[in-house]
Amino acid sequence: VTREFRVVQYGLGAIGRMVTRALAERPDFQLVGVIDSNPEFQGLDAGAVAEIGRPLGMTVTGDPQKVLRAGIADVVLHCTGSSLPAVYPQLELCLRAGLNVVSTCEELFYPWRRHGDLARRLAALAETHGATLLGTGVNPGFVMDVLPLLVTNVCLNVERISVTRVLDAGTRRLPFQQKVGVGLSQGEFQRRHAEVGMGHVGLTESISLLADSLGWSLDTITNDIEPVLAEQSLSTQFLDVPEGQVKGIRQIAQGLSSGSPVITMRLEMAVDTVDPRDVIEIEGTPPLRLRIDGGVPGDPATVAALLNAVPGVVAARPGLLSPRDLPLPHWRVGKLMEAGANRA
Ligand SMILES: NC(=O)c1ccc[n+]([C@@H]2O[C@H](COP(=O)([O-])OP(=O)(O)OC[C@H]3O[C@@H](n4cnc5c(N)ncnc54)[C@H](OP(=O)(O)O)[C@@H]3O)[C@@H](O)[C@H]2O)c1
Repeated sequence: VTREFRVVQYGLGAIGRMVTRALAERPDFQLVGVIDSNPEFQGLDAGAVAEIGRPLGMTVTGDPQKVLRAGIADVVLHCTGSSLPAVYPQLELCLRAGLNVVSTCEELFYPWRRHGDLARRLAALAETHGATLLGTGVNPGFVMDVLPLLVTNVCLNVERISVTRVLDAGTRRLPFQQKVGVGLSQGEFQRRHAEVGMGHVGLTESISLLADSLGWSLDTITNDIEPVLAEQSLSTQFLDVPEGQVKGIRQIAQGLSSGSPVITMRLEMAVDTVDPRDVIEIEGTPPLRLRIDGGVPGDPATVAALLNAVPGVVAARPGLLSPRDLPLPHWRVGKLMEAGANRA
């Protein structure tokens, strides 16, 4: 017997470590290489870094060239960053080795509008080297794009789509709370927003995928961010928020067609949130409303979306794809495969 999918894990941050823990539990995945630039991880076994309690027999290296060779893996699971220009060289190395990639990079999910030039270069590299490249995760990758698109399958006509995702940032990791500005003053929030940009990356990509798939041409995509302020002092496990300081963000992005919004995304990520939820509303024939109580939990959902994409990506044509180009992704039981057997 053998394992069905040989995997290189690229990036051992919070998500990469969760992926590594999930891989270690699966009979169908075999870890064959681990890359991360963090100096503290160099030379350690991936099992130690991912706190699995046993070695996985794979040493972490910061040198991707040592790992990324033709034929070494069926897929690279890439979890290092959100910015496509920043991760481009990493993706290029994978593709030049002819390796398929599934990445959590938000800007890779549907990069044709924001980073058209990089998208075309990645698509050409993938096709030339016979590899498939996919960006996915919970969001972008599922809640605000793939799931609403799937819902339109039962519509005869769609006029408008809105998606609302409300998260309780108080239950999330410290880096997440910092990312949404928890504990900052309004002035610090605005300064940081002007300098590095606060808020979720990916709404432009989600809106672009929806609009292109539905055949809607958009004049523009707007993206507005404002802080949510604490009405009373509160604390998370990591941070204190005095009354009047920032407890999270509210972000609204819209796709406008002939000046009026046809796609609206509302994302609220704050501490002490009442009624966390995901809500998809389709105005059309028939009108439809889908609500997920509590909201899809982000980190585990991202790990699942990554692993569940692998069978489709390995079987797909070469190129830069998005989830809509693949067979419907879903969970399935992981099984060992008879040595020499072909994949189902
Ligand atoms: N699409 C989605 O739904 C979704 C969901 C969750 C996360 N994400 C995104 O996925 C990415 C990973 O998430 P995370 O929470 O795990 O982030 P993270 O904690 O920042 O981890 C990133 C890891 O990658 C390493 N790294 C950075 N640049 C590298 C390079 N050039 N070569 C090798 N390793 C490199 C980092 O090392 P250093 O610490 O040394 O920099 C770190 O260990 C983030 O950009 C996140 O926004 C997307």
